[in-house]
Amino acid sequence: MVCIITVNFKIPDNVDLDDKDNKDRNYWYFYILLTRKNIQGFQKKLTQSVKQEGNMDKNSIVVITGANSGIGKATSIELARTGAHIIMACRSKERGEEALQDVRDLSGNNSVELMICDLGSLKSIRDFCSGFKKKYKQLDVLINNAGVILPGYHQTADGFELQFGVNHLGHFFLTNELMDVLIASAPARVINVASGAHKSGKIYFEDINLEKKYKFWRAYSQSKLANILFTYELAERLKGTGVTANCFHPGAVATRMGINRDTGFGTFITRLLKPFFQTSKQGAETAIYLATSNDIEGVTGKYFYKKRPVQSSKSSYDRATAKKLWELSEKMVDQEGLS
Ligand SMILES: NC(=O)c1ccc[n+]([C@@H]2O[C@H](COP(=O)([O-])OP(=O)(O)OC[C@H]3O[C@@H](n4cnc5c(N)ncnc54)[C@H](OP(=O)(O)O)[C@@H]3O)[C@@H](O)[C@H]2O)c1
Repeated sequence: MVCIITVNFKIPDNVDLDDKDNKDRNYWYFYILLTRKNIQGFQKKLTQSVKQEGNMDKNSIVVITGANSGIGKATSIELARTGAHIIMACRSKERGEEALQDVRDLSGNNSVELMICDLGSLKSIRDFCSGFKKKYKQLDVLINNAGVILPGYHQTADGFELQFGVNHLGHFFLTNELMDVLIASAPARVINVASGAHKSGKIYFEDINLEKKYKFWRAYSQSKLANILFTYELAERLKGTGVTANCFHPGAVATRMGINRDTGFGTFITRLLKPFFQTSKQGAETAIYLATSNDIEGVTGKYFYKKRPVQSSKSSYDRATAKKLWELSEKMVDQEGLS
């Protein structure tokens, strides 16, 4: 898009810009300087937003999991602003519908829809994917954003430990189920929302559901390390297909993360921390960058923070662990994946 701005103003006849003793000259001199600076700044902003929307337009189709809250909702709003068709994959119809209205209203784009997908249920994921494939033959960007962290031992509908089950296995299954559409739509992008918490994570192969020794942080950090190992392995397996896989850490963001949706437990501490954390919109910036920017065309298998590729933990680069996790995940979801 080319944007030309012209501003017409007339300097009074009695003002000579070369006459330093003329009082009115100084006023006009600064007025011209400031106006020029503002126009340049405005033009720069316009170009930046156009650049950021480079990879996405009204023909693009995007799926975002956990799109009704926090980073997922903010990402949905910003990506909807590009005109793309957004599919908000949410587990709750009620929370999803409320967020859908907000996303439509705030983005001015009505091409946003809600589809139910509970990542804690393989059946729900399967239903989502078959529903999606009946309607669409194209998927340009898949953002695996949904996440959960909850004190106390919980299980998914299929009996997996909740955090590993939702944050990793759910997305692993979803991505593999959508892989044929992604490949057919190449160039396409998979973006996984990981976390700096992966640094204290370990994959407990001998007790993957943490039945012997459960701590919620241990479960969460395991799941977030799994997000990164999955991203790197996926990127390897997708080489040559035109589909890229990257992940990122959003930083500390004031969202509903950690709040128990049934009891509301965790709301108070989240409110207390809010002033010290980024807003959801700020937390979504790297997701939007990875989804839209032309700068990362073809970039794959990277971990980003603040829109830059950075190193993840040493153990996250262990190919043997990544392969072992992939194979275990396949077994757990009982699926023949990419080989
Ligand atoms: N906030 C942070 O500081 C931070 C830091 C690092 C990484 N992250 C990551 O950022 C991602 C987004 O989290 P957020 O901070 O935006 O938290 P959030 O506001 O709690 O949003 C989490 C989203 O995930 C959804 N979700 C949870 N369980 C689900 C399931 N079984 N099936 C489908 N969706 C499910 C939630 O849906 P409901 O509302 O229906 O529960 C919600 O839409 C997560 O992957 C998280 O690990 C966050």
